[in-house]
Amino acid sequence: MCGIVGYVGCEAALDVVIEGLERLEYRGYDSAGVTVLNGGGLATEKRAGKLANLKKTLTDFPLPTASVGIGHTRWATHGGPTDANAHPHLDDARRVAVVHNGIIENFAQLRAELAERGHTLRSETDTEVVAHLLGEAFTGDLAEAMRGVCRRLDGAFTLVAVHSDSPGVVVGARRNSPLVVGRGDGENFLASDVAAFIAHTRDAVELGQDQVVELRREGVTVTNFDGTPATVREYHVDWDASAAEKGGYDYFMLKEIAEQPKAVADTLLGRIGADGQLTLDELRISDAQLRQVDKVVIVACGTAFHAGMIAKYAIEHWTRIPCEVEVASEFRYRDPILDDRTLVIAISQSGETMDTLMALRHAREQGAKVLAICNTNGSTIPRESDAVLYTHAGPEVAVASTKAFLTQLVACYLVSLYLGQVRGTKWDRETFGVIELLGHAPHQVEQVLRTMEPVRELARSLADAHAVLFLGRHVGYPVALEGALKLKELAYMHAEGFAAGELKHGPIALIEHGLPVVIVVPSPRGRAVLHDKIVSNIQEIRARGARTIVIAEEGDEAVAPYADHLIRIPATPALLQPLVATVPLQVFACELATAKGHEVDQPRNLAKSVTVE
Ligand code: F6R
Repeated sequence: MCGIVGYVGCEAALDVVIEGLERLEYRGYDSAGVTVLNGGGLATEKRAGKLANLKKTLTDFPLPTASVGIGHTRWATHGGPTDANAHPHLDDARRVAVVHNGIIENFAQLRAELAERGHTLRSETDTEVVAHLLGEAFTGDLAEAMRGVCRRLDGAFTLVAVHSDSPGVVVGARRNSPLVVGRGDGENFLASDVAAFIAHTRDAVELGQDQVVELRREGVTVTNFDGTPATVREYHVDWDASAAEKGGYDYFMLKEIAEQPKAVADTLLGRIGADGQLTLDELRISDAQLRQVDKVVIVACGTAFHAGMIAKYAIEHWTRIPCEVEVASEFRYRDPILDDRTLVIAISQSGETMDTLMALRHAREQGAKVLAICNTNGSTIPRESDAVLYTHAGPEVAVASTKAFLTQLVACYLVSLYLGQVRGTKWDRETFGVIELLGHAPHQVEQVLRTMEPVRELARSLADAHAVLFLGRHVGYPVALEGALKLKELAYMHAEGFAAGELKHGPIALIEHGLPVVIVVPSPRGRAVLHDKIVSNIQEIRARGARTIVIAEEGDEAVAPYADHLIRIPATPALLQPLVATVPLQVFACELATAKGHEVDQPRNLAKSVTVE
């Protein structure tokens, strides 16, 4: 949500900043802007709309050459996506420029105070107050001014600023919102995400909560908001610039769908021993502590929440520990019953989702242990958790999550099985068989991907449908929800997922002639009763005119007579089926959205990383 870049070095700052913004555009694409700083002061350009609008303006009206710059790509919160509301924002004297991600909750009060002191605020944003406050607070040291201003702000924010009287300096600050430093040779970078500077350096510094960083060519100084020196963690990014490029695909989403076999394999790598024993040494939570756990609570949002719903089935089956799963934004405002024997699992691709972060803090305040399942090294959620299991999906750029979801599932299975292993519950031949078959998942996902042409064809034929329903049972139910979510976000269609058993309790009224309904069929080799029940459900909706699109495992012939379209997936143990059943739904949504002419990587109104509540 909002992408931020800052640069100090010897290259043309504008080029570095624009390149960084291109890599961060997935975070927001309502408007974009840049400021460069050279001996002559600040020069700013900003435009509503996609980054391309700004780039065109900069070609027509170039900014002066400079070696210091900041930039922003916006996902609007306060004020619509207009030129005036685009960042950077300036103070009255046009000596300070500020870009911001997050929400400053006390901005109305600060704005009123500034107006009373004679400032003219030109935008509707909460950000602009910071530019004016920094202008007032500056007495020669921009980092000092930033610390003073931050102490007055409520809410969540990443701020990056330059001042015309501080040549060669960019200052950043963060509270509850991401900001990373990239260390180069004679140049340094600030960004919301390492992707922005990965082409220049893979050496990063993770900033902590309530810290201010001063960036100069020759070095980086980090302090806490109270001015004391801060401790920071340095790390090396283990992927390179090519991982965050399209690599010949038309869209990032297509590339990320295709990368799933590797993402799943990388997430499994080194975690299953030859003897079928799991090793999760990096967890930072002892086996003794895991043996104490008497309840698991999973918190997450969106697609990650669907991974959590699937994990509940796995955890309860393999460990016999009661497990609840809840969307983070609801959990956080409840009075959940937790104690030091509760294990809270927070699932997040970005590691920055504000709702999930707040939920984990809420859980820790009550003594629960928090285990993060996360894809982003250096992000806030793993840093604030007691333990972490990283997924190794690599950077996910398309706004709609695909490969991160599959790797979240793998991580959830690993955690569930590991809990079973250390506690000795359900640790039998069936479980060993599952572990072995989990190792086959990359190959099975690959197999599904090779057979997707009919799914693409079907999706194109449904471009004019007004709605699609998705049904599933057991772990197929969260898969149905995920299929519907993908279609909503990409194709902007009415799409709903239901537990097939709920059909007769209401949703069946929606069935009308020709309505496409996707049904995820459980394996007939699992609990046969589930399979048979869904076969009846398919017949019920077909009898009412639905066009049935059935996802069923190879060899399941019982469904064939009732399927208008049959999509085959490889046979897996019942609990692992989501790893293969989700893939056709991703391909379906992506192709249908493309057929409608939508931009699949940047769906309207969305941003990749939701860092505000
Ligand atoms: C949907 C999607 C979102 C995210 C959700 C959580 O395709 O991407 O629903 O899953 O915003 O994001 P993370 O996993 O970064 O916490």
